[in-house]
Amino acid sequence: MSPTNTTLQLIQEKSLPFTPEIGLILGSGLGLLADSLENKIIFPYETLPDFPKSTVAGHSGRLVLGYLNQKPVACLQGRVHPYEGTPPQKIKTLIRTLKLLGCKILIITNATGSLRLEVKPGSLCMVTDHINFQAFNPLVGPNEEEFGPRFFAMDDAYDAVLQNQFRKTAKRLNIKLEEGVYFGTLGPSFETPAEIRAFRILGGDIVGMSTIPDVLVARHCGLRVAALSAITNLAAGLSNEKISHENTLYYGEKTANSMLELIRGFINDYHE
Ligand code: HPA
Repeated sequence: MSPTNTTLQLIQEKSLPFTPEIGLILGSGLGLLADSLENKIIFPYETLPDFPKSTVAGHSGRLVLGYLNQKPVACLQGRVHPYEGTPPQKIKTLIRTLKLLGCKILIITNATGSLRLEVKPGSLCMVTDHINFQAFNPLVGPNEEEFGPRFFAMDDAYDAVLQNQFRKTAKRLNIKLEEGVYFGTLGPSFETPAEIRAFRILGGDIVGMSTIPDVLVARHCGLRVAALSAITNLAAGLSNEKISHENTLYYGEKTANSMLELIRGFINDYHE
């Protein structure tokens, strides 16, 4: 049996008949969203075979099942990044577990630097597309046909219907929602000012070190994806403020309330 199936069995022994519809990945400083779920069932990653142990401060590593606005959801609280040297299998297991549990859509949150002076720290930005500059794709290797085809399209990586829904919900709640192209770097270093100027020319609006591997695995197995970004800083060279992980956590937490409100509103408004 594959590690993903063993993990699934373990989770379902404790959670059935609970079936999540929506999966959420919570980025730096956004873990409090999982804390607000009702009727929680919590699985620390270390209790789940082939789940990764997150190594970054602010990423605690728990799968939390429960209800958000009466809708059944599954939260990955804490993710892994390619820069941690995580084996691709673990990234695949995280996302595919959500799929096998029954999720149809995946909402990804992350923290990013802004490449646009007018989009300031503390803003929320919806990802409309991405540029993979990570030189990493977790799907390299033999294709697991049971999850998806060898070659698959990425022209609709960020679901148009979900994007529209987020626009409507943000408007209803009077939350300013920026939109932009996510430029993914490997990290763990932040960028140089010259790199940021180049990424702008290449078409990036925000820059981050996560998300793309998750989107690739999710789209391969047919999950519909939306991604929301907390802007934690202006990218390198665009401001005098020093970029740091502490800053990322600070602005991640500052943005968490409106992110939480937007996601709650989305889940409330969302129907198939
Ligand atoms: N660059 C890369 N990743 C990031 C940044 C950044 O400026 N801010 C938050 N995550």
